[in-house]
Amino acid sequence: MKAQRRLLTVFDGRALSPPPIWLMRQAGRYLPEYRATRAKAGGFLDLCYTPALAAEVTLQPIRRYGFDASILFADILVVPDALGQAVRFVEGEGPRLDPLRSAADVARLSIAAAAQKFGIVAETVQRLRQDLPAETTLIGFCGAPWTVATYMIGGQGSNDQAATRSFAYRDPVTFQALVDVLVEASVVYLDGQVRAGADMLQIFDSWAGSLPEDEFDRWVIAPTRKIVADLKRLHPGLPVMGFPRGAGLHGARFMRETGVDGISCDTSMPLQHIRGTLSGRTVVQGNLDPLLLVAGGAPLERRVREIVRTLGVNPFIFNLGHGIVPETPPEHVARLVELVRSPGLLG
Ligand code: CP3
Repeated sequence: MKAQRRLLTVFDGRALSPPPIWLMRQAGRYLPEYRATRAKAGGFLDLCYTPALAAEVTLQPIRRYGFDASILFADILVVPDALGQAVRFVEGEGPRLDPLRSAADVARLSIAAAAQKFGIVAETVQRLRQDLPAETTLIGFCGAPWTVATYMIGGQGSNDQAATRSFAYRDPVTFQALVDVLVEASVVYLDGQVRAGADMLQIFDSWAGSLPEDEFDRWVIAPTRKIVADLKRLHPGLPVMGFPRGAGLHGARFMRETGVDGISCDTSMPLQHIRGTLSGRTVVQGNLDPLLLVAGGAPLERRVREIVRTLGVNPFIFNLGHGIVPETPPEHVARLVELVRSPGLLG
């Protein structure tokens, strides 16, 4: 069965023409059918914890566009929520958590208690594996410990992660304890997803770009390496992608030292730099600006060609450099898929 899944063959070192395509946040508010299901579910986390509805919104973009991969519908903040730090999604504002402040707060997090909610997400994966077309790769995911910790310490999103960077400088022992819990919980969570039918994994480190080099090693590379090693011990040959957003000049080191099989490149990474440092050495994914997909038209088409011509000669997966935004016209996504799949794009 798996052999039919085209996207997975890039991990055997094959450059495919046309390249496989999926988009980060391909399920979401830009689709009217997502908004309808979301309204039925009530809260955002209710949607994540109702397998029938979570599977339904995962399938919506596959039905519309026939992407090569489907990403499980859930959120990186399922992990802190399952560990016992309640997460709320405030309409129009984003996630809110009661910030962790002390070693005692960290000690209260419970991996044993997380099993129940992790099990619900695994049930979504199981349904998806049954309902997806056989050729569609199913991607499981989690947030990387550093990025998840920024929400757990900061209590919400921020542009500079100042609260968490300060916490880690002030009390590295407690911060390490938190990262260790997140590593262990992430391995349990991802192992459950793979056993339920996920073909590959992606680890989202959306805020990797805010750390200086020593802290990048300690809070981004080391925990990611441990998660990847543990999962590969449990599931030899399992492809794992990293998304160290904003890692910039740390990217090649991230590739060499974490053991990931591929890197999702953010919008700011120059194509020639990706070509020179990552492409051909690992699977590369990316990196169209999500706002260019909102704009559409000739500039979008030009950039898509440029990306595919520069990166498509080596094992490559077409994607955005960050998630789809809600303002995206669904017909621009249809045009993008048509364009990436048009013969002779590499020409
Ligand atoms: O389709 C998919 O990509 C799968 C599902 C998915 C979601 N979030 C659904 C979601 C995935 C993989 C994520 C990852 C995620 N979540 C990240 C890492 C990637 C990134 O974007 O940097 C982060 C940092 C989060 C945390 C998060 N979730 C925030 C900050 C927000 C609020 C901002 C926003 O866009 O509303 C969310 C909510 C969220 N997660 C939505 C979706 C579809 C929107 C919620 C809604 O329907 O109201």
